[in-house]
Amino acid sequence: MTGILNGKTAVITGGGTGIGLATAKKFVAEGAFVFITGRRQAELEAAVEAIGPNSVAVQADVSINTDLDRLYETVRERRGKIDILFANAAVAEGAPLGAITEEHFDRHFDINVRGLVFTVQKALPLLVDGGSIVLTSSVSAFTADPALSIYSATKAAIRSLARCWVLDLKDRHIRVNAVSPGSTETPGLGGLAGPDGDTKGFYDFLGSRIPLGRLGRPEEIANAVAFLASDAASFINGADLQVDGGAEQI
Ligand SMILES: NC(=O)c1ccc[n+]([C@@H]2O[C@H](COP(=O)([O-])OP(=O)(O)OC[C@H]3O[C@@H](n4cnc5c(N)ncnc54)[C@H](OP(=O)(O)O)[C@@H]3O)[C@@H](O)[C@H]2O)c1
Repeated sequence: MTGILNGKTAVITGGGTGIGLATAKKFVAEGAFVFITGRRQAELEAAVEAIGPNSVAVQADVSINTDLDRLYETVRERRGKIDILFANAAVAEGAPLGAITEEHFDRHFDINVRGLVFTVQKALPLLVDGGSIVLTSSVSAFTADPALSIYSATKAAIRSLARCWVLDLKDRHIRVNAVSPGSTETPGLGGLAGPDGDTKGFYDFLGSRIPLGRLGRPEEIANAVAFLASDAASFINGADLQVDGGAEQI
């Protein structure tokens, strides 16, 4: 570890599991103090235990604005500022066209898009000038999978938000970038294995589509996020960093 985030304060939504948790561990290892959020208290407590000192969990649902207000009030009281915001929380469920319910549509857009928008907007008073925002998009933003149209559309929206917010925040020199993971072994991906729960077969199939011959590890996405968040990426703005083992690059 080189301490590339020494002294930084970071907020990570969806930090209790998967990519968010791996990123929280990486940030702390690089010298940052992190606040993590999620809806499930038990997962958050286990995560803080795993991350160790310099981490705080705030139970908060990103689709509920009063939860976000409570999160940022805690951050203001404890640290007074945010240097890095990793807006990462999302849900991913399948529904083919013909079986998309209003509830399916609303849940995905409420959490993945509306929740992300207000996660960022409500952070602005605490975000330092020159700070860094990283949004989790997905290779699903520009590829197709059966039954994933609504999830994929939410991720495409995030790509557009990153581009536009670069302009909205340019006077404050706040960088906004997206990270687009390919298939990465997390509880979220496992949840897409289907009702018969053949997770191994599902992972083998996904891994076979990747030139590196395997799924990504959450730590590999975390490394990319830490880079984007750090001063090493000081001239990278509005980008979408695809971390996918080459799957969508060929
Ligand atoms: N794994 C992949 O292959 C892959 C590929 C491309 C993109 N992604 C993206 O990567 C991000 C992280 O996903 P993951 O794969 O690490 O899956 P994950 O382990 O399921 O992580 C998602 C996290 O988001 C939290 N979350 C969900 N809804 C929330 C809400 N309303 N408010 C606050 N937190 C909420 C979940 O915690 P609670 O349920 O406790 O709230 C969970 O900790 C997501 O944006 C996902 O779309 C993943």
